[in-house]
Amino acid sequence: MKNLGILLSGRGSNFVAIADSIAAGRIPNAHIAVVISNRADAPGVETARQRGLNALVIPSKGKPREEHDREVVAALLDNKVDLVCLAGYMRLLSPWFVRQFPGKILNIHPSLLPAFPGLEAQQQAFAYGVKVSGCTVHLVDEELDHGAIIVQKTVPVLDSDDEHTLAARILEQEHIAYTEAIRIVLEGNFEIAGRRLVKSQKSEVRIQK
Ligand code: GRF
Repeated sequence: MKNLGILLSGRGSNFVAIADSIAAGRIPNAHIAVVISNRADAPGVETARQRGLNALVIPSKGKPREEHDREVVAALLDNKVDLVCLAGYMRLLSPWFVRQFPGKILNIHPSLLPAFPGLEAQQQAFAYGVKVSGCTVHLVDEELDHGAIIVQKTVPVLDSDDEHTLAARILEQEHIAYTEAIRIVLEGNFEIAGRRLVKSQKSEVRIQK
């Protein structure tokens, strides 16, 4: 059984999608060991508690980044977390944090990276006039919205869209993409070659005559 640690700061719809996927067997052998928010008022915390999950608030306001990160990492280690999933966590992780979980931190971003990193990616894409946008689940490295890509989903931009309708359709795809990415990472049948995720060759079964 692999223990997931979810970090969030707000609504928590990606967290709920992950929890639902685990409950439905779409992410086998996984368990949400802890949900951590840096904001006490994040609706995702209340949702986690209603679902009977271990939910902690570790406030970040006014704390130096690494001091806060040390508290969060201590809580993740206490809960024996194998994979950290950032799900609308509005904090940049310190390089120290990233080094504590090498290759074991995922983030979801609402654009087709490397286009439109940073805040309000859906609005950035809409205003730029792209015809296709989407979402990306990637490994977290020391740069913002930058690590190796695990899963991407595309979403067409319709003539009838505004930034809100586009964001809503991207969010539907985020919920699907995060489940797929967690499965891939937990199954572990891949390597990262440069920036590229390459699936490992399945060993061939040879029938000897
Ligand atoms: C999502 O759009 C995610 O891609 C971005 O923050 C938003 C979080 O939404 N990183 P939610 O809290 O999971 O509903």
